[in-house]
Amino acid sequence: MASPPAPAALLLLLLVSSFLISLLVVPSQSRSQPAGDAFTSILISQNGLDFVKDLLVTKAIASAVPLRLPDIEKSQKIPFVGNVEMVLSDITIYEIGVSSSHLRPGDSGVALVASGTTCNLSMNWFYSYKNTWLVPVEVSDKGGASVQVEGMEVGLTVGLENQEGTLKLSLMNSGCHVQDISIKLDGGAAWLYQGMVDAFGAQIASAVENAITKKLKEGISKLDSLLQSLPKEVHVDHNASLNVTFVNDPQLSSSSIGFEINGLFMGRQNEILPNLYYHRNQHLSVLCRDPAKMLGITLDEAVFNSASSLYYDAKFMHWTVDKVPDQSLLNTAEWRFLIPQLYKKYPNDDMDLNISLSSPPEIRISENNIDATVYADLIIDVLEAGEVIPVACISLVMRGSGSVKILQNNLAGSVKLNDFAMSLKWSNIGNLRIYLIQPVIWTVIETVFLPYVNAHLAKGFPLPIIHGFTLQDADIVCSASTITVCSDVSYAEAGNLKNLSMRFL
Ligand SMILES: *[C@@H]1O[C@H](CO)[C@@H](O)[C@H](O)[C@H]1NC(C)=O
Ligand SMILES: *[C@@H]1O[C@H](CO)[C@@H](O)[C@H](O)[C@H]1NC(C)=O
Ligand SMILES: *[C@@H]1O[C@H](CO)[C@@H](O)[C@H](O)[C@H]1NC(C)=O
Ligand SMILES: *[C@@H]1O[C@H](CO)[C@@H](O)[C@H](O)[C@H]1NC(C)=O
Ligand SMILES: *[C@@H]1O[C@H](CO)[C@@H](O)[C@H](O)[C@H]1NC(C)=O
Repeated sequence: MASPPAPAALLLLLLVSSFLISLLVVPSQSRSQPAGDAFTSILISQNGLDFVKDLLVTKAIASAVPLRLPDIEKSQKIPFVGNVEMVLSDITIYEIGVSSSHLRPGDSGVALVASGTTCNLSMNWFYSYKNTWLVPVEVSDKGGASVQVEGMEVGLTVGLENQEGTLKLSLMNSGCHVQDISIKLDGGAAWLYQGMVDAFGAQIASAVENAITKKLKEGISKLDSLLQSLPKEVHVDHNASLNVTFVNDPQLSSSSIGFEINGLFMGRQNEILPNLYYHRNQHLSVLCRDPAKMLGITLDEAVFNSASSLYYDAKFMHWTVDKVPDQSLLNTAEWRFLIPQLYKKYPNDDMDLNISLSSPPEIRISENNIDATVYADLIIDVLEAGEVIPVACISLVMRGSGSVKILQNNLAGSVKLNDFAMSLKWSNIGNLRIYLIQPVIWTVIETVFLPYVNAHLAKGFPLPIIHGFTLQDADIVCSASTITVCSDVSYAEAGNLKNLSMRFL
C-alpha cells in the first residue's frame, strides 16, 4: 500500500510528535478558556516532523505488506478468440516504494503527500473459453503475472485537536491515484497480454487505490486509539508524577507543531496541588538557538516550584543529622568554646541536628541562572540519657545556584551554596553568638545537606518523551522564568511502533 505508508506515516508523525511530547489531555472546553494551565510547551520543528514522518513511512510500509487485494473476474471479448472468462486471484502487493514524501502542518490540519510511489504486485491468472471453430471444446490456461504500479500519488489531511483532554486525530480527507501500471505475464497465449491490460488495467489500478485508502483509514484510526490511550501522568518516583494532560489545541504553523501540557508535579495519590500559586507564563514559547533541532521543550519555573511544594507538603524535607564526616562536631565538647553554656549544661553529650524546611524552596529562573532559596529551621538537640532535648533553633536562609543537564531523557540538576544567613529563633540556653557557630553550620550544610539534595537532583525527572525515543545532543537555555531543552532525537528499534505501549522512561 503505497499510499498507506504515506498517510500512515503522517499519522505516525502526528502520533510521534504527540509522543515526543508525551502529552495528554485537555478539557475540550479549553477553547472557551483561552489560557489553560499549561506550564510546559513542546515544539516539533520541521526537522522533527520529517524524522517522524520518515520513521512512520518506513514502519507503515513494513506493516502493510504483503497486502492482499480481492480477486477480480471478468468476461472479455477477444478478437479471433471470442468471449473469454478471466480471473485474477491471489493479487498481492508485496513491495511499496516511496520516492518522496512531505509533511506540512497547515491551518486546517496536517497534510501528508507521498509522490512517485511505486508498488509491485504478484497475482495468478486463469482463463477459459469455448473454442467453437471445430468441435466445441473448452480451452483454459493459467499462470502467474507481476504488475508494477508507477507514479502513484497518495495524500491525506489529518485534523489534530484536543478533545475532552485527549489528543484527537481525525482523517479529514485522503486520496490515492495510480498513474500507470504495467503487467508482465509468465506464459499465456499471445493475445492474452493485451486482453488482460484492456480488461483489468483500470480495475487493478482502482483495487490498489482502494486498498491503500482503506489502509490509510485503518492506520489513522489506530494512531488515534494510541493517542487516546496515552497516560495523563508520568511516574517520577514513589510519591510524585508529572501531569502530562494536554492543554489547549495543538498549534500548527507552516513548519512546526506545538503542544502544551499541564506539566506540573502532582502527588501519586492524585492529591491536587494548590495550583493557584502558579501564574501561567503568557509567553511560554519554545525558542531554540539552533532552529534545526528536532524538538524543543520549554518548562516554566512553576514546574520546579510545584515539585518543591509537593515534596514540602509531603513532609519529605526533613532530616535528622546524627552522622557527619567529622563526628566530633556532634558532641557538646566540640562546642564548648562556641556555646560555653551548652557544654556547661550538658557536658560531653552527643547531639543531633534536626533540619526541616519552613516553607517550600523557591526557584527562580533567569537568563543563564537558576536560583534557589531554601528556608529551614535547624534545631540543635542534645541526646542525654536516651532523651532528645531541643536546646536551640536557628533559622537559615540558604541561597544557591543550580545547573541542569540532560541525563538520557531526564532533566537532572545540581546546586551549589552561594551564601546563607542565620538568625536565632529560640533558645533554652541563653543567647548564642551566631557568628561563632556559623562556620560549623556551614560545614554541616556543605558536607551533609547539599550532598543529600544533590543525590536526589542527580536523578532528575523525566521530560515528556515517548518511549523508544532518546534525546541526542541536547542544548539547555535558561531565560526569564523558563528552561528550554532543544534537542534532536533518535529512535531505538526496541520501541516497536506497532505495539507502542506508551511507557515513559
Ligand atoms: C492535570 O492537568 C489538568 C489540565 O491542566 C487539570 O485539569 C487537572 O486538574 C490536573 N490534575 C491534577 C491531579 O492536578
Ligand atoms: C518493483 O517495481 C519497481 C518499479 O516499479 C522495480 O524497479 C523493482 O525492481 C520491482 N521489484 C521487484 C522485486 O520486482
Ligand atoms: C515516598 O514516600 C514514602 C512513604 O510513602 C517514603 O518512604 C519515601 O522515602 C518517599 N520517596 C521519596 C523519593 O521521597
Ligand atoms: C524536629 O523538629 C520538628 C519541629 O521543627 C519536630 O516536629 C520534630 O519532631 C523533630 N524531630 C526530631 C526527630 O526531633
Ligand atoms: C506489546 O508490548 C507489551 C509490553 O511490552 C506486551 O506485553 C504485549 O504482549 C505486546 N503486544 C503485542 C501484540 O506484541
